[in-house]
Amino acid sequence: MNISIFGLGYVGCVGMGCLAQAGHKVIGVDVQQLKVDLINRGEATIVEKDIDKIIKEQFQQKNIRATTDHLDAVLNSDVSIICVGTPSSSKGHLNLDHIYQTAEQIGRALKNKGGFHVVAIRSTVMPGTNQRVGEIVKRASGKKRNQGFSVVSNPEFLREGSAVHDYFNPPLTVLGGDSEKAIEIMERLYEKINGPKERVDIKAAEMIKYVNNSFHALKVTFANEVGNICQHLGIDSHEVMRIFCLDRQLNLSPYYLKPGFAFGGSCLPKDLKALNALAHDLYLETPVLNSIEKSNENQKDRAFHMIEKSGKKKIGILGLSFKVGTDDLRNSPIVDVIEKLNGKGYELRIHDQNISFSRLVGKNKSFVEEKLPHLCKLLQDDLDALLQWAEVIVIANKNECYQGISTRKGQTIIDLVRVAALESKDQYEGICW
Ligand SMILES: NC(=O)c1ccc[n+]([C@@H]2O[C@H](COP(=O)([O-])OP(=O)(O)OC[C@H]3O[C@@H](n4cnc5c(N)ncnc54)[C@H](O)[C@@H]3O)[C@@H](O)[C@H]2O)c1
Repeated sequence: MNISIFGLGYVGCVGMGCLAQAGHKVIGVDVQQLKVDLINRGEATIVEKDIDKIIKEQFQQKNIRATTDHLDAVLNSDVSIICVGTPSSSKGHLNLDHIYQTAEQIGRALKNKGGFHVVAIRSTVMPGTNQRVGEIVKRASGKKRNQGFSVVSNPEFLREGSAVHDYFNPPLTVLGGDSEKAIEIMERLYEKINGPKERVDIKAAEMIKYVNNSFHALKVTFANEVGNICQHLGIDSHEVMRIFCLDRQLNLSPYYLKPGFAFGGSCLPKDLKALNALAHDLYLETPVLNSIEKSNENQKDRAFHMIEKSGKKKIGILGLSFKVGTDDLRNSPIVDVIEKLNGKGYELRIHDQNISFSRLVGKNKSFVEEKLPHLCKLLQDDLDALLQWAEVIVIANKNECYQGISTRKGQTIIDLVRVAALESKDQYEGICW
C-alpha cells in the first residue's frame, strides 16, 4: 500500500520505518526541513533502539522518502496517517492546531485526487477531533465523508525506549471509524502487526489513550505511595508489589473496573482508612490513597443529585446490601444515599431479596439500628407493589429479579449498576454511562 505519514517525530518516524519493513511504500511529511533531510539521507529523526537500522535499510530499498510538500504526499498515497504533535496549552488543555492544519492540507490536496482516501489519526486527540477533522477535510476537498474519504481514529500505544518492538507487538490495535471500507483498508495495513484488532466507536477510540495513560500514571503513583509506606515500616516494597501482581483475579484483572456506583462493604472502606491512618502516623504524604474516599463519596452524591433532579418524591430503592448476593449492609453506599433522602423528607420504599428486617442479626442489625432506625418501615417484600407506587426507581444492585422489571410510563429509572435490559426504557438514566 502507498502511505503518507504526517509528522516525522517519535510516532511518525517509527511508523514510517515499521510500515516500510512490513512491505508498504511510505512518504513522510514534516514542516521541519531538518527531519525531511535526515530521512532522505537514510537517517532516523529520533534516537531509539533498532530504528536507525530500519530507516537505513528501507531508504536503501527505496521504500521510504520524505518531503515538505503535502500535495506530493497525498497524491501519491491511499492512506494518510496523522502523527503530528499535540502539545499541552499553558492551561493544560490539548493544542490541536497541528492536527487541524494537517487536515486542511490533506483536504486541499484531495481536491486534486480521485479515488477513496483514508485519513488515520494516530496522534493522541480529544473525543470529537475525528469529526472536526472530517469537517475540515470535507470543506477543503469538496468531497463527501465516506464517499471520497474517511477518517479513522487509530491511537498509538508504543512506548519510547521499546518503540519498534511495541509497534509490532501492541496490546491491541484500535480502529474507530464509520466506514467499513476504511476500516478494512486499515486492517490490511496492519496485517503483519501482532495482537487483536478491535473495531470500536470513534469517540471510544479517541478516549482510550487518555484512559490508558491516566491509569498508567495512577499505577506508578499508587505503587510509589505503597513503596514509601513499606520503606518506613522496613518492608521490602518490591516484594509486596510482586505478590500484589501475582493476583490476576482481583488485582491485575478487569474486576473492579466497571464504571458504576460507590464501593462499600465491611472491608474496602475500613482497610483503606487504616492504610491512610498508618501513612499519616508515619508523617507520609499519600495524596493518591487519600483521595480515594473522596472520590467514592462523590459517587454517592452523584446518585443523590440524580434523584433530587428528577423533582419527584416517591423513591423506590431496589437493592440495599453493598453488593448482590449478600445481606451485608455494613458500609453499603446506598444506605448513605437513603439516609440523606430520608433527612430531606423523601418518601422511600426499599426492596432487597436477601434482607427482611426480622432476619437482621448481629453487626448488620446494629448497623441498621444506628444508621436507619426506620428501615423496617421502609423495607417492602412485594416488588410489584413497590414498582407500582414509586415515581423514581433506583437500581442499586444487580439482583437478577431486577433484570426484567416492568415500569410505568412517566417513571424515572436511575440505574447505578447498569442493567442492560432496562437501558432502552424512557426516562432511563445511568449513573455514568
Ligand atoms: N512519543 C510517544 O511515545 C507517543 C506514543 C503514543 C502516542 N503519541 C502521540 O503521538 C503524537 C505525536 O507524538 P510524537 O512524540 O511523535 O511528537 P513529536 O513532537 O516528536 O513529532 C511531531 C512532528 O510533527 C511535525 N509537524 C507539526 N505540524 C505538522 C504539519 N502540519 N505537517 C507535518 N508535520 C508536522 C513536527 O515538526 C514534529 O516533527 C502526539 O499526539 C503524542 O501524544 C506519542
